[in-house]
Amino acid sequence: MGALNQRAIARMEAGVTSLVDGLLERMAGETQGGRTFDLIEGFAAQIPVEVIGNLLEVPRAERGPLREWSLAILSGLEPAPSAEVLARGNRAVVEFLAFLRDLVAARRKHPGDAETDVLTRLIQGEADGERLSEAELLHNCIFLLNAGHETTTNLIGNGVWLLLTHPVEFARLREDPGLLPAAVEEMLRYDGSIQLNNRRLSAAMQVGRHELSAGTSITIGIGAANRDPAQFPAPERFDIGRKPNRHVAFGQGEHACAGMNVARLEARIAIGRLAARFPHLSLAGAPVRDRRVRFRGFRMLPVGLAG
Ligand code: HEM
Repeated sequence: MGALNQRAIARMEAGVTSLVDGLLERMAGETQGGRTFDLIEGFAAQIPVEVIGNLLEVPRAERGPLREWSLAILSGLEPAPSAEVLARGNRAVVEFLAFLRDLVAARRKHPGDAETDVLTRLIQGEADGERLSEAELLHNCIFLLNAGHETTTNLIGNGVWLLLTHPVEFARLREDPGLLPAAVEEMLRYDGSIQLNNRRLSAAMQVGRHELSAGTSITIGIGAANRDPAQFPAPERFDIGRKPNRHVAFGQGEHACAGMNVARLEARIAIGRLAARFPHLSLAGAPVRDRRVRFRGFRMLPVGLAG
């Protein structure tokens, strides 16, 4: 958490902006002459992998397999994964652990800046706190990559898709870019990248008519909560100026998402600069949805520049 505070987030801004501008430049070249461009592969997926790679200071040349590992591991978290999906996920964990053991050994020898390098911070532990065991350290690194990677890719992809399919809201954002932070919150509410979460009850409780005993495993419908009519007037309306907007896309309470402000920063810069650079961005074919139920996003989102 200390490495993801407001100061750390502010320090990331310039780097994320120049990364996004570089991707937009490439997109400008590739969409010339009416060609289409996959916004997921060519844009949304490129941003978080760099941001998490920077947080853990993974050497740039070694970042190649990170995305595939993350996709394979997260697919294994589906409520009922097939044996093949589970095996692929477990294989990715084994490969990733081997990679991290080397990375951690090298970092122990040559520690980074404990202010900015999350891996060095996790290795050293907090001044008067607990030190992580080797297994905890490695698995926290895996968690961090997985938590921050596909979720943010999908926030950017879902957000752009929402703007393209709600042209009045897209025009509103172009006219008033000050709405961008509220627009990102509405994207998180309306089409959040994590739809389900889990808890095991530590005490008996009643939910509606149901008595649940201590120890029960429950699945929480984040997406359903975010469209609860008791909480959100006209919940099915995508309204980029919605206020208040007390969504639960990042969870809530003690274990709420530790990276929420990193994700917000990435989404604001990616979507804001994309909208400013390509006001005529349009859908250029049928998007391909990812069919998993825990994670919501697109595998492919073809776009072009009409006009
Ligand atoms: C749109 C992007 C993201 C979404 C929708 C999201 C959502 C969530 C959710 C729902 C949880 C579980 C909260 C709970 O159980 O109550 C969570 C936990 C977590 N997330 Fe995120 N997340 C995103 C991006 C990120 C990023 C970029 C990072 C890291 C840089 C990150 C790091 C974490 C960590 C470390 C936890 C565990 C917190 C804990 O258990 O104490 N997340 N996130």
